[in-house]
Amino acid sequence: MDKKRILTGDRPTGRLHIGHYFGSLKTRLEMQENPEYDPFILIADVQALTDNFNNPEKVRKNVREVAIDYLSVGIDPNKTTIYIQSMIPETAELTIFYSNLVTIARLQRNPTVKTEIAQKKELFGESVTYGFLGYPVSQAADITTFEGELVPVGEDQEPLIEQCREIVRKFNSIYGEGILKEPKAVLSKSKRIKGLDGNEKMGKSLGNAIYLSDSEEEITKKVMSAVTDPNRIKKDDLGNPDVCMVAYYHNLFTAKEDVKTVCEECKAGKRGCVACKKQLAANIIEELRPIREKRAYYETHPEEVDKILIEGTEKARTVAKETMKKVKDAMMLNYFD
Ligand code: TRP
Ligand code: SF4
Repeated sequence: MDKKRILTGDRPTGRLHIGHYFGSLKTRLEMQENPEYDPFILIADVQALTDNFNNPEKVRKNVREVAIDYLSVGIDPNKTTIYIQSMIPETAELTIFYSNLVTIARLQRNPTVKTEIAQKKELFGESVTYGFLGYPVSQAADITTFEGELVPVGEDQEPLIEQCREIVRKFNSIYGEGILKEPKAVLSKSKRIKGLDGNEKMGKSLGNAIYLSDSEEEITKKVMSAVTDPNRIKKDDLGNPDVCMVAYYHNLFTAKEDVKTVCEECKAGKRGCVACKKQLAANIIEELRPIREKRAYYETHPEEVDKILIEGTEKARTVAKETMKKVKDAMMLNYFD
């Protein structure tokens, strides 16, 4: 039986944080252990440039940072193919072919793109670039270059997969049924982790994230600044763990019995917030220790990281060439065959 190809990826615009750890990384670690799956992870540098075209150093640096994050959490290059998007020219070619199959109005209606454009007023002003508006087309090419069958995504990415499915259907209806494979989105079961400040989203721009690469001191400092129950001033004030981000993170990093004690003592006014935070920081530091250690290893062995990226990209390229042959045959672009 053919294995199902799984496509996931990240824009390399920053290191990965504990939101990724409980979300997409956890899903990918589970998927790579499933013998029915053939997972590919793309480091989407071309997509990162669509909103960072003026900052190529940032994208370049983060390609390796993100690769090291993957390896540090246990993404195994023998089970998962990690590759760099810009090194697959077939994807860029497909993007151009697909651009005829999608209207500008349809791209402007894509809810994900719409939201992002609104957030990027500073970069784009009143008029968005062709490249950014069109990134769903390039993402459709990412997925179909590898005949991706399943695409594990968060809710915010779902419209991109829907757009990819439409492009595939349109392509097949014109150039031949069954040429391209229509992918399915698999919605992630893991919930999104809130930021240290209580914001629904954890992210670099919000300054509320703990990174997998943060040092012990950085973790402690960040936990100390987390938002607690604002009505609690003295230790014997009765607290409400439901409105405290420290309690929220205890739920993620602290053993169940201990979480119960945290909540009981907080409600009874028998627990100081400083001690509570120190306990949490110690638990986060412990949980992330093996990741930090692996990261330290790869940071001092950059040639191993490069080798993994080169081999992954070569493997991806072989698959991409096969798809491109099929596509060009179907589109009658095979002049001298
Ligand atoms: N859009 C994704 C993100 O911002 C990254 C991405 C690019 C991707 N191409 C993809 C994800 C293909 C899944 C499949 O994180
Ligand atoms: Fe939050 Fe702990 Fe303080 Fe209670 S004691 S408010 S759970 S930090």
